[in-house]
Amino acid sequence: MKGCILITGASSGFGAACAERFYKEGWRIVLIARRLERMKALTADFEDKSRIYITQADIRDLKATEKALGDVPDAFSGVEVLVNNAGLALGLGPAHEQAVEDWETMIDTNIKGLLYCTRLLLPGMVERKKGHIVNIGSIAGDWPYPGGNVYGATKAFVKQFSRNLRTDLLGTPVRVTNIEPGMAETEFSLVRHKGDSVKASRTYEGLKPLTGADIAEIVHWTVNLPAHVNINSVEAMPVSQAWDMLAVHRDEENPI
Ligand SMILES: NC(=O)c1ccc[n+]([C@@H]2O[C@H](COP(=O)([O-])OP(=O)(O)OC[C@H]3O[C@@H](n4cnc5c(N)ncnc54)[C@H](OP(=O)(O)O)[C@@H]3O)[C@@H](O)[C@H]2O)c1
Repeated sequence: MKGCILITGASSGFGAACAERFYKEGWRIVLIARRLERMKALTADFEDKSRIYITQADIRDLKATEKALGDVPDAFSGVEVLVNNAGLALGLGPAHEQAVEDWETMIDTNIKGLLYCTRLLLPGMVERKKGHIVNIGSIAGDWPYPGGNVYGATKAFVKQFSRNLRTDLLGTPVRVTNIEPGMAETEFSLVRHKGDSVKASRTYEGLKPLTGADIAEIVHWTVNLPAHVNINSVEAMPVSQAWDMLAVHRDEENPI
C-alpha cells in the first residue's frame, strides 16, 4: 500500500482534486475542511473506505486543528505528505478600501492555519525520517496586481516560509515544495467575490483556466519523484495568462 497524505481544504477545488488523485493512486487520504458534507459527497463513490478519513476543522483555530489531527486513527498515523492547500482571497478592492476583517481572515487562514498544520505534523516527519510538505502558494506571492494587497502578501509569506523550512530541514530527508498556480477555476473566485456568481464566472470568461486536476497532477509529480529530489517551487499558469508591463499613471494636466 502507498503512504498516507493529509490534505487541508479538501472540500473543494485543488484539495478535492488532490484527494481524488491520491485515492486513485492507492494512498490513504486524510481530508480536512469545515464543510464535512462536501467531503463526504466527494468520497461517496470511493470504494475502499478503509483508506479514507475525513475530519472537520477550521484551521484558523489551533486547538480545534490540534484535536482534529490528534484524533486521526492509528491506521492513518505516520502522515508522509501534508498538502497545505486550505486558503482563500477575500475582496479585490484597493488597500485603503478593504475590510480589515477580510485581511484578518486571509492572514489567519493562509498564514497561521498553514503554520499550525505544519507545526503539528512536522515533528513526526522529522522523527520518522520521511515526509513532504507541499504548500499551495500562488503567483500572487510573486507578482503584484491591483486588489491583491494582503492576499498576495500571504502567499509571499508561504513562499519564503517554504524556503526557510527547507533550510531548517537540511540534513533530514523531509522535502518542502511551494506550488504557485495562476488562474484556476475552482470556488476561489466565488469566495473572493463573496458568493457573487456573475462576478466569479467573469474571471474565467474567454479563456481556458487551470483546473484542480492540473494542480493535483503537479502535486502528484513532486511527491512521486525519487526521494533525493526536492522540487523547491513550481509556477504554473494557463497558456492564456502571462505577465503584463509595469503600470504607469498618466495625467497631462496634473502629473503626480
Ligand atoms: N483558484 C486559483 O486561481 C488559485 C490560484 C493560486 C492559488 N490558489 C490557492 O489554492 C488553494 C486552494 O484554493 P482553491 O482554488 O481550490 O479554492 P476553493 O475551491 O475555494 O477551495 C478552498 C478550500 O480551502 C478550505 N478552507 C478555507 N478556509 C478554511 C479554514 N478556515 N479551515 C479549513 N479549510 C478552509 C475550503 O473548505 P471549507 O470552506 O469547507 O472549509 C476549501 O476546501 C488556496 O490556498 C488558494 O489561495 C488558488
